[in-house]
Amino acid sequence: MTFSKAQDNVDVLDMIIFGGTGDLAMRKLIPALYMAFLHGNLPPSTRIISTGRQEIDREAYVAYVELHSRSFIAQENFNDKTWDSFVTMLGYVSLDVKATPDFDPLARVSRQGAVRVFYLSTAPSLFTTICTKLSASGLVDSRSRVVLEKPLGIDLRSAIEINEAVGSRFAESQIYRIDHYLGKETVQNLMVLRFGNSILEPLWRASNISSVQITVAEEVGVGSRAGFYDGAGAMRDMVQNHLLQLLCIVAMEPPTSLNADAVRDEKLKVLRALRRFKLADIARDTVRGRYTRGVGGSKEVPGYLEERDVPVDSSTETFVAMRAFVDTWRWSRVPFYLRTGKRMVRRSSKIVIEFTNPPFQLFHQCSGSISNRLVIELQPEEAIKLQIMAKQPGSGMEMQQVTLNLDLGSAFQQRRAEAYERLLIDVVRGRLTHFMRRDELEAAWEWVDPIIEGWQQLNEKPRAYAAGTWGPAESFALLARDGFAWVE
Ligand code: BG6
Repeated sequence: MTFSKAQDNVDVLDMIIFGGTGDLAMRKLIPALYMAFLHGNLPPSTRIISTGRQEIDREAYVAYVELHSRSFIAQENFNDKTWDSFVTMLGYVSLDVKATPDFDPLARVSRQGAVRVFYLSTAPSLFTTICTKLSASGLVDSRSRVVLEKPLGIDLRSAIEINEAVGSRFAESQIYRIDHYLGKETVQNLMVLRFGNSILEPLWRASNISSVQITVAEEVGVGSRAGFYDGAGAMRDMVQNHLLQLLCIVAMEPPTSLNADAVRDEKLKVLRALRRFKLADIARDTVRGRYTRGVGGSKEVPGYLEERDVPVDSSTETFVAMRAFVDTWRWSRVPFYLRTGKRMVRRSSKIVIEFTNPPFQLFHQCSGSISNRLVIELQPEEAIKLQIMAKQPGSGMEMQQVTLNLDLGSAFQQRRAEAYERLLIDVVRGRLTHFMRRDELEAAWEWVDPIIEGWQQLNEKPRAYAAGTWGPAESFALLARDGFAWVE
């Protein structure tokens, strides 16, 4: 695909990355920009200007990128010639955001008339300073865009502060709050599955659906990120954003168009309809967990408390399971079971829609469950599976569950772009649909905050689960109580 100036209305682009030597820039942003460039999705005159505290020049930065970022580009996509042209776009400005009086050094290298995208891949505590200094140095105009990387606060109050600070310099239509789950192919496909298929939509409601499960399981542990993670935990790191966004797409009403606000209005309604937790609900309907020593891959791995930089008295959870309700006409009394954790059996993200049983049992069940399920596998494989009942061959009329399996990886031969690549292209093209709006972010915190506070009030300690398992026993009990089980 070649970049279309007319369509996208950006001819000169300066992509300015704060945190330009950081982990995210090296692992995700630079590789995503390379891929976008490779496929002709960046304006030819693009410049990528990274900033960081390291006092290095452009050549040293390019060498740094070669060393730390290049290996994150899949071999089959790597092309020496393209890479050489790509690195000519790179620039570097050494900038200590807090200490420097202004961003004039940045203003001197950013081109007049360029559309400026500021990617804030720094601690959110720097967002206010960055926005103030960008504005003071004349770098912000009506065509500028700012991309905010998570975590967007640690609670509602801090999220409001960030939104206020950024909002005082940028209009809401210039602000791109990233939740990279919204850039995943299968997450975007969920909308098509729901609203592009007339056979599913009539079934998509409480009268036909008995429960919904959303699981985002990770095999990795906290790795080297404990410094950040211990202050967050699974609730803030995963549930507040990724899982709630998935829930919104499953539960929302059909938007009137794909216009960013039309879609975000519907997601907001879901967030506002989430039933608030009282203390008794928290004790009954949520499970916090924390991994202990166990197995990861095929080797022994340490427990969370033994990981580097985790305080000995940490009470942070690495796992959350919960039962939530969306109090709307469509979803009345349907439990939404959410589950996420680190160091689980394997990486597996899926949504399971469990349909109600037929009103009358005519046939004998042979084995296992008798309900129909739609299983949407998000990662690592992308698949849509429909579990239906079929007659077991033989003279009897016994039935058994079988699966219709649509493997999306083999159904489409086209390349599937990584989430960051897709989202960065959206930013360049000015498409806000797959980014969180301010009110969405705040509504998510409004729902999450009382749960975290409730855990503190109840002195709810994380339950132990061994690394390499599906989480603490209480998580299974949560579903068993309602007659359900996690679909692994
Ligand atoms: C990030 C979290 O937002 O998402 C990480 O901060 C987590 O803790 C990651 O590992 C998971 O993303 P993905 O795309 O690998 O499922």
